[in-house]
Amino acid sequence: MKHRRKHAVLLWMLICSGLAEAIEPISTSIAVGMAAALTGFLASYPNILYYFHECCRPEWISFNKTDLNVDLQRKLFGQHIASRIILKAVNGFMNNDNPKKPLVLSLHGWTGTGKNFVSKMIAESLYKEGMNSNFVHVFTSELHFPHAHQIDTYKSQLQQWIKGNVTNCPQSMFIFDEMDKMHPGLIDSIKPYLDYYDKLDGVSYRKAIFIFLSNAGGESIIQTALDFWKAGRGREEIELSDLETALSLSVFNNKKSGLWHTSLIDKNLVDFFVPFLPLEYKHVVQCALAEMEARDLEPDTSIADQVARDLIYFPKSERVFSVTGCKTIVSKLDYYV
Ligand SMILES: Nc1ncnc2c1ncn2[C@@H]1O[C@H](COP(=O)(O)OP(=O)(O)OP(=O)(O)O)[C@@H](O)[C@H]1O
Ligand SMILES: [Mg+2]
Repeated sequence: MKHRRKHAVLLWMLICSGLAEAIEPISTSIAVGMAAALTGFLASYPNILYYFHECCRPEWISFNKTDLNVDLQRKLFGQHIASRIILKAVNGFMNNDNPKKPLVLSLHGWTGTGKNFVSKMIAESLYKEGMNSNFVHVFTSELHFPHAHQIDTYKSQLQQWIKGNVTNCPQSMFIFDEMDKMHPGLIDSIKPYLDYYDKLDGVSYRKAIFIFLSNAGGESIIQTALDFWKAGRGREEIELSDLETALSLSVFNNKKSGLWHTSLIDKNLVDFFVPFLPLEYKHVVQCALAEMEARDLEPDTSIADQVARDLIYFPKSERVFSVTGCKTIVSKLDYYV
């Protein structure tokens, strides 16, 4: 009995602690000796290794609503709709002990408006290791799936990858960047994992989170924001309902958008469409100030103004929204400080 327990602890230790890799170069007998000593130690402190190496356990994965809320309020500028939906969506999902399907968020908007930025915040509020967590996986169409003719290989690789990772940790997060450039067949291949299945081949995907990022619908969001601006209405008055119809229509009807080809939408597999508004001058100034703070520089409004002034805005005559959002601020700042 004692023996069996020792073996179990040893096995668990090797799987969860990553000591397997560390032990490799050492001779087996030393390793066995070390393991025996460690096993004795571990029998007294069974949870100690969880603290050293990331495991699929609450020590490493737990949702912190306050963290996410504070991050969204303080660091994300000009996205009152997105920040509200995201907090509600993630909080609701994490507080549900028995979700019927994985959480699927689809983030839409113009370039540089904060889609990747928010994904990072979500990851940080869930995983101690944030984006560096072994349970957070990012796919970029052009990087991971560049050749259309290899689509069948990509499909099976992606399916196996998702299955393997969710088997390893049900609370895995998958971020698909540049979703609009993703081959429709590839999107179709992940569909089963997003659906209402109890289990697929013995694996339950219901605790996983899928986040899709795309520029699809960006133009229709801009149009709505511009209409509000022209009508002299405040940006904060824009509500989700003002964008929803336009957004789903433009995502649906855009033949270039991967989502259009698939039944992700008509099968209601996406739980939340999250619109990102185009950013204005004042948000760019905020981004520049935030970047200075991140670099431990004294926030200097006149420099931030200069950075913001040198960006390009559209429509040409009114100069309301930044063409590149806040995206180029990080590199631009180097010229000014
Ligand atoms: N709304 C925002 N609030 C604060 N910072 C922002 C915001 N949007 C963008 N930024 C800053 O700009 C950087 C680039 O933004 P991000 O990568 O999130 O853009 P994106 O929406 O993913 O754009 P793309 O569609 O081109 O991929 C972020 O890392 C962040 O520093
Ligand atoms: Mg992005």
